[in-house]
Amino acid sequence: MIHYDAIVIGAGAAGLMCALTAGKKGKKVLLLERSKKPGAKILISGGGRCNFTNQDVVPTAYICRNPHFPKSALSRYTPWDIMDFLRRYGLTWHEKTLGQLFCDQRAGKVLEALLTECETAGVTFETNIDIQDVSYEKGVYMVTAASQKWQAKNIVVASGGISIPKMGATDFGYKLARQFGLKVVEPLPALVPFTFDEKLMDRLRPLAGVAADSIVSCGAVNFRENLLFTHRGLSGPAILQISSYWQAGHEITVNLLPSIADSFEWLKAERTTRPKTSLKAILSSVLAERLADYIATSWPGNMADLSNKALENISNSLSSWTLVPTGTEGFKKAEVTKGGVNTDALSSKTMEVKSQPGLYFIGECVDVTGWLGGYNFQWAWASGHAAGEAI
Ligand code: FDA
Repeated sequence: MIHYDAIVIGAGAAGLMCALTAGKKGKKVLLLERSKKPGAKILISGGGRCNFTNQDVVPTAYICRNPHFPKSALSRYTPWDIMDFLRRYGLTWHEKTLGQLFCDQRAGKVLEALLTECETAGVTFETNIDIQDVSYEKGVYMVTAASQKWQAKNIVVASGGISIPKMGATDFGYKLARQFGLKVVEPLPALVPFTFDEKLMDRLRPLAGVAADSIVSCGAVNFRENLLFTHRGLSGPAILQISSYWQAGHEITVNLLPSIADSFEWLKAERTTRPKTSLKAILSSVLAERLADYIATSWPGNMADLSNKALENISNSLSSWTLVPTGTEGFKKAEVTKGGVNTDALSSKTMEVKSQPGLYFIGECVDVTGWLGGYNFQWAWASGHAAGEAI
């Protein structure tokens, strides 16, 4: 039986980065992947263009029970490190919005670069592997699959979260963590659209496809990005972002006029300057036509016909529209899984389990969840690099 320095379980962003980092240091690394091919989520990421990092990465863009935990790894493998890596492979990128960097040559080229670097570093690949058992005895880990066994001094779990099960996501990481006595923060869907009760949906469905620049808040947290009405509820970047902070039963507040400081004062001023204009026409100057139409149907007539009370009601429904989602579209649609292996058990420098030498957890299976916009890949690169350096 071949004895490896490290067996990395899961060939996604985190596992590939860890394997190539350790391999480049001369370590004998085996990368085990359950699917037929590695890097499935890299390939579909960013609409096929892979939003591989964000140039404004800060620890506060991550949700973790211990907000200090992500700092060490993120500071030692930065967005500039992954840019340097991709540059070496001739890849280029552009900023789409809010610091989000997308690869010009498409996601397949990012995966190709990682696989080539693994190959150059001498990493051994095994795909289509169904791991049945991981055991530990006297400083050696034994991994057992259907008809094979492998041994290693170190095991790195990079099996991801449980979002999008049809892409091969499994709860392997959480099960293994529990097997070694670690706690798992309840995994929940994050970066996920909201659903609402049928009564509200009957009203919202005609707006499906409409997008609106909005500020969406939940408690003290808010995001200004696009909101998208869909046939199933609300989606778009602003909604996905706030979903990571939302808890069942809590309300969210939507401001559909984020560029207008005081919408009540604005409506009163419009009534003074354009009394013979309809509310729909006024709203159409700042909102998509269908949304303006939807809001204005409850207030027919011209601006001059609208009382201060009416304008106050309209202002409230535009600037502080309060909704209580019935739920989310769940793991089937969630871009990431919030929660995961409790970081109290891990070294923030190396990602190694403090009580279990040689066992590491990296990437999305750890209780670190980034904002939308390249933050999650940056966590995968940074935590993978931290473990790869430590092996
Ligand atoms: P990841 O899930 O990528 O990899 C885990 C690997 O382990 C998989 O290959 C899986 O098959 C394998 N595995 C699972 N169980 C196993 C087992 N028992 N044995 C062996 N292998 C096993 N983020 C971002 O920053 N920018 C973006 O543009 C996007 N876009 C995006 C789009 C969509 C549609 C989704 C669903 C997600 C994103 N993300 C994203 C999130 C990002 O894809 C995610 O955070 C990272 O892929 C996480 O990397 P990991 O390597 O931790 O897990």
